[in-house]
Amino acid sequence: MSAFYESLGINKSDFELLRDFIHLKTGIYFEDGKADVLADKIANRLIENNLTSFLDYYYKLKYENDPDEWKELINAITINETYFYREYPHIKILIERIIPEYFEKFPNIPLRIWSGACSTGEEPLSIAIALTEAGYYEKYPINIFASDINPFSIESAKKGLFKERSFRVLPSDLKEKYFIKEDKVYRIKQEILEKVIFRVKNLMDFDELSFLYFSNVIFVKNILIYFSEFSIRKLIDYLYNKMPKESYLFVGISESLLKYQPKFELVEVDGYFIYKKNSGAQE
Ligand SMILES: C[S@@+](CC[C@H](N)C(=O)[O-])C[C@H]1O[C@@H](n2cnc3c(N)ncnc32)[C@H](O)[C@@H]1O
Repeated sequence: MSAFYESLGINKSDFELLRDFIHLKTGIYFEDGKADVLADKIANRLIENNLTSFLDYYYKLKYENDPDEWKELINAITINETYFYREYPHIKILIERIIPEYFEKFPNIPLRIWSGACSTGEEPLSIAIALTEAGYYEKYPINIFASDINPFSIESAKKGLFKERSFRVLPSDLKEKYFIKEDKVYRIKQEILEKVIFRVKNLMDFDELSFLYFSNVIFVKNILIYFSEFSIRKLIDYLYNKMPKESYLFVGISESLLKYQPKFELVEVDGYFIYKKNSGAQE
């Protein structure tokens, strides 16, 4: 980065304009002390656009409504960290408890699983691997839908190519069984990739997502840490109202919803907490 841009600090009012704009559109919130973090993340966008101030960049975002710039901004501000079998106990609960219970009650109604912040796809593809391992695709109608706000992540997920860092906890026998090594990357087998439908979707855009909120199992994991309390409350209230009865919500293992006093019932399974909209819930 040139010395000019390195010296380009962000002043309080420009930071607040950009921060509030991003918050409104995405739910992602940069606290007051994070002005430099935001400035660092988007400084390159100023360079690429030949702009010399954060205020000009704000005006560009707000008034030009340029979808290509929006993609680049999203890519610059989101954290895409993810890997196969991350927080595996949640997948185990899904496989061993939720799915068998669901099909005992509703044997002929397809189960819909939605991974709402799937990044480059490791989370929903882990679910597809676990379902295959359990032999569930032969027994049950199950659909997995996966989405993320970052178009570059979804593009990458659809390709099904993964680097070594995605495999830090996946058992090696599963890696061998479901991936083919190609030079420096691993290609996931088509039979797994085709189990997941990937789309670009913003969790804060309720209209765009209306059909997905009716999923029986929703994962919004390791994303709420980037959201404001306001956005989390808005999202979980909306999810609760839209999800069908007898449905489950998973958030990251370190992300508790308790302070929001959600209407979901908190269910403990093997020491892990998940949120359930139970059968007595008001629609
Ligand atoms: C740290 S990754 C978590 C990935 C995966 N859920 C996991 O736990 O491994 C967070 C993801 O949330 C996505 N994200 C951030 N804001 C979002 C929004 N408003 N709607 C949908 N996805 C969003 C980011 O693009 C990023 O891919």
